[in-house]
Amino acid sequence: MGFFKLTIRDVPIDHKTVLVRADYNVPLNKKGDISDDLRIKASLPTLQYLLDHHCKIVIISHLGRPEGRDKSRSLAPVAARLQKLIGTPVTFVEDCIGDVALQGVKQAPAGSIVLLENLRFYEEEEANDDVFAAKLAQASGARYFVQDGFGVVHRAHASTDAITNHIPSVAGLLIEREYQTITGAMEHPARPLVAVLGGAKISDKITVIEKLVKVADKIIVGGAMANTFLAYRGCEMGLSKCETGQEGVLDAVYDAARKKVGDAVDDFIILPTDVAVAKELSNSARRRVVAVDSIASDDISLDIGDASIQRMADEVADAKTVIWNGTMGIAEYAAFSHGSARLALALATQPQTTSIVGGGDTADFVLKWDGHEGASFSHISTGGGASLELMSGKKLPGIESLLNARK
Ligand code: ADP
Ligand code: 3PG
Ligand code: MG
Repeated sequence: MGFFKLTIRDVPIDHKTVLVRADYNVPLNKKGDISDDLRIKASLPTLQYLLDHHCKIVIISHLGRPEGRDKSRSLAPVAARLQKLIGTPVTFVEDCIGDVALQGVKQAPAGSIVLLENLRFYEEEEANDDVFAAKLAQASGARYFVQDGFGVVHRAHASTDAITNHIPSVAGLLIEREYQTITGAMEHPARPLVAVLGGAKISDKITVIEKLVKVADKIIVGGAMANTFLAYRGCEMGLSKCETGQEGVLDAVYDAARKKVGDAVDDFIILPTDVAVAKELSNSARRRVVAVDSIASDDISLDIGDASIQRMADEVADAKTVIWNGTMGIAEYAAFSHGSARLALALATQPQTTSIVGGGDTADFVLKWDGHEGASFSHISTGGGASLELMSGKKLPGIESLLNARK
């Protein structure tokens, strides 16, 4: 099935100057080095296509949430990494609008790549300011705008929305691939479809839970999210991270689930029956597994327990599609990564199962676990919020604003 928006393949792009919005909001370590370049690598197919078609490429992106100009949030290290990965010179220009940007683009030779400085050094970017968007268009001198920053298309910002008022705007190959893969899995999944939800915040993920109650055959809950569910079901959770004020939301989730599966609700929304706890979170903390009805008042639940891990593995073994968002525990600590690692192993050893992994921390975990650029999984999304919003059926402003494909 074709994509519902025009892509770079649909327009006469040869020899044109093209403005590409990437999402190079990459994680940086304490030294300021890029600690994970998934998003840079994911942008390469579009850039290579444009190079093959002799385009001059001007790239814009944000990095972090700076307030004004902030050297620690400069995109300069990204330019260096991109140049290494793509093997074509990348010129970094220290502004994204105005004379500096204009001259930087002008002086770059045809068939080369220019990366402009962080869009969010200007507050107009997040304000979706139309005058700022016009300045971006003008500095780039671009004939086409290509949206390829999947991770940011759930935001209506100047570089995802207002810019499309100024330049004919089409999708890049990453946007097309993410959209088709994620909506395909939600709309026509090979069944059984098992959703595995974890991580920290229910409120961030609630719309997707509601949607998953409708489309999934099983929902497995882990991570701190499970703590909130367990507390709601009456378990004493000690000092575990729980979110309060979610009772109404969880009432609605369980009402919808009961409507769908009746009394089998605990076989549909599968909560841990045991958890791994410690008295403190540290590298030397010992993993101790307890039943969910035996959590002491000074215990912290940090991972799902061994029986729950086995149950999850059994459910996933039968699945034809698995959607995974949110780690099963504090996977940053080896002792509390067992649940997440066991799930990664199940997916890696079931190549016939379509596996879609989303969420910044979850993608980070599976990439480090995998060590093969994520080849063990069908799709590792570059989007956190964007992939969740797409799964929950919301329209994404950065995609909606692009030119429609001809029917
Ligand atoms: P993603 O970025 O993949 O969408 P989230 O940001 O929602 O996922 O959640 C990931 C975070 O959740 C990780 O930093 C992890 O340490 C944390 N987390 C997972 N399980 C627990 C737990 N039991 N208690 C506290 N934090 C947890
Ligand atoms: C992300 O990392 O989720 C995207 O780059 C969007 O960043 P934001 O949450 O700061 O808008
Ligand atoms: Mg996260």
